[in-house]
Amino acid sequence: MANKTARVPSVKPHGERFGSETIAAQGELVAGLSRNAACIAPKYFYNSLGSKLFEAICQLDEYYPTRAEAEIFVTHAEAIKASVGTGCTLIDLGAGNCAKAASLFPLLQPRHYVPVDISVDFLEQAVARLQAEFPAIPMDAVGLDFAESLALPPEVEKARRCFFYPGSSIGNFTPLEAARFLRRIRAACGEDGSLLIGVDLIKDRGRLESAYDDALGVTAAFNRNVLNHVNALLGSDFNVRHWHHRALFNAEQSRIEMHLEAAIPQDVTWSGGHRAFAVGERIHTENSYKFSQSGFTNMLAQAGFGNIQCWSDHETSFLVCHARAC
Ligand code: AVJ
Repeated sequence: MANKTARVPSVKPHGERFGSETIAAQGELVAGLSRNAACIAPKYFYNSLGSKLFEAICQLDEYYPTRAEAEIFVTHAEAIKASVGTGCTLIDLGAGNCAKAASLFPLLQPRHYVPVDISVDFLEQAVARLQAEFPAIPMDAVGLDFAESLALPPEVEKARRCFFYPGSSIGNFTPLEAARFLRRIRAACGEDGSLLIGVDLIKDRGRLESAYDDALGVTAAFNRNVLNHVNALLGSDFNVRHWHHRALFNAEQSRIEMHLEAAIPQDVTWSGGHRAFAVGERIHTENSYKFSQSGFTNMLAQAGFGNIQCWSDHETSFLVCHARAC
């Protein structure tokens, strides 16, 4: 495969974009909004504008995870290369703009790059640009809700897979879901695969909360934009002006929680239903779990990984781990 000409095919799991997937999303959204404690799953942040707002978040001074993780990949490049090895099939879970994986291409020299993301249109644009920059690396973009399934297309070889899950995205799962997800990755690793993963570490409340409630209001826009996406999917009539952004560290559960809080009493309607919100009532939109190093390496071991190596930045704010199937 390494000698094949560059190509940018894209694999859409269910063919139709506005078929069964959208119907499933509508059911999930209505169920979440109808609950006493209303919620919207964080995957709905990532419509086209949401993906751009998340890119902007990553450039904010307050949002340390992106910089800390990049620092780790620079400072510990040789050790990471020694652990991962070169020539793997690099499977990038939640690839987004593919920038993180691309920055590792010179170091890891993957023989095949497989970016996976739920926001497939955004992904396709990113892969088209990247393919021009790295014509020698075959790339296959996969549109997939990988939290639901890790069913990869047949062109993704089983041997020497390295799953890449940076940015502490695993923090969106509850501890139980995270454990199940890690076991599923472990199963998809086969005999000789591995996982290169970044997680955010527990730290003081002030630093955590300002990372999720920045001075410019970019994270607020990112959170409120989920309502635009919900309107598009459900045909609902949320008015983003009537919702405040809230971000708080829940120390007992070791997670940042993001909520949208009703600024005025209101009734939101969609086809086939509606929901009244009192002033101050909240919609829970995201959990972002924070880990201790020992807590996280225990989770990896529990999921069937071994040979775990971890690296941190100079402030010990973030952790990158490489773990092998064993
Ligand atoms: C993409 C889930 C890792 O939790 O830090 C950033 C998402 N939300 N700011 C995170 C997010 C608000 C981010 N993850």
